[in-house]
Amino acid sequence: MQNSNSGKKVCIRTFGCQMNVRDSEALLGLFLEKGYKSADNPKDADVILLNTCAVRAHAEHRVRSILGSYKKLSAFSRQSSASKKNKAESRKLRADSCKIIGLIGCMAANSGKEIFERMPHVNLIVSPAKLHKIPAYIEKIKKENIRIIDLEDKEREEDFYNASYRVKPGYAQVVISTGCSNYCSYCVVPSVRGELRLRKPKDIIAEVKRNVSLGIKKITLLGQNVNDYRDKQGVNFVDLLKMVEELDGVEEIDFLTPHPKNTTKELFKLMAKSKKIRKYLHLPYQSGSDKILRLMHRGYTKKEYLALVDDYKTIVGGTIGTDIIVGFPTETEEDFLHTKDILEKVRFMGAYIFKYSPRPGTHAQKLKDDVPQRVKEKRHAELLELQKKISNA
Ligand code: 5AD
Ligand code: SF4
Repeated sequence: MQNSNSGKKVCIRTFGCQMNVRDSEALLGLFLEKGYKSADNPKDADVILLNTCAVRAHAEHRVRSILGSYKKLSAFSRQSSASKKNKAESRKLRADSCKIIGLIGCMAANSGKEIFERMPHVNLIVSPAKLHKIPAYIEKIKKENIRIIDLEDKEREEDFYNASYRVKPGYAQVVISTGCSNYCSYCVVPSVRGELRLRKPKDIIAEVKRNVSLGIKKITLLGQNVNDYRDKQGVNFVDLLKMVEELDGVEEIDFLTPHPKNTTKELFKLMAKSKKIRKYLHLPYQSGSDKILRLMHRGYTKKEYLALVDDYKTIVGGTIGTDIIVGFPTETEEDFLHTKDILEKVRFMGAYIFKYSPRPGTHAQKLKDDVPQRVKEKRHAELLELQKKISNA
């Protein structure tokens, strides 16, 4: 049977973290099931969606400039000429030859209202919690020639995860929780993705089983801080890992991201014992200075972080990676040397190193961004250089 959407193409461009990668995949799956095709190049698509990141200002600037460059492609930039024609004709023009441009994800939650006002050619703006509504919103935009903004923050609907489409054959990411309630002082995630919300163990297991039935053997469990997982029945992250591990057909499991403040020896013991869980830990330390860690509201000291890494190396013996921020407000050379010291001591397999970027609505934004840009750049370059040597050693 001919689907009314056959011939329609959607291009979803993804910015930022693995959570966004999975969200885009799940969303594309919903479109494919509605008869759309996927386009790699925005020029070939009828619907262009930017699934965005708000963690650093730089990422937002990039998306703003891409959005600006789409102005000439949008259904709404042709509105004035279209309005001269009769209604049916103008609707056909929009449906046939103009693109729908959407800003979705974290940046929508962060700056969506302002962009909706300033960029009339952007016809759809949707927050991370409402991504499952997007295919229906697109139909509504086409039919009614309207713009839609939906920034509601609520529990995601399970249906969002139902499509079977996977980008990489044999591999699936499975979201265990959305949002975050840790409020690290620099981080915009709790404000754009909302408070921590857990998917039910039975829904997570059902999704893993669906993957297995599709021949998928490798699973990554995703949460902003996976260790925060604890449902009302007391099922915690280690229990959940065990449940996934027990499933026949699952051969390799890993997870992103554990937070040092509540990473436990139980987790390490399970990793050591398991034949399926990958012996890799991504353990962001952000800073090595106790003063900066306090200002970041991270909930551990340098000594505690290093002790945790020692436990990991002793119990699991696997590899380790991390995230670091340089140039957080008030960071002195001495603070920075503590950060460098951890990098030297732990010898990470890889490290994502960022320059601090003040974010709206965060606690840290109230502090003066007083480390000069050139100092941030120097510290950033120094750590990159050091990590390069360690990675290549
Ligand atoms: N500035 C710079 N880096 C940040 N990160 C999060 N928020 C900020 C910010 N405001 C980094 C942290 C986090 C990673 C995903 O992004 O290192 O672990
Ligand atoms: Fe942001 Fe901290 Fe939550 Fe990670 S744990 S998402 S850094 S608030």
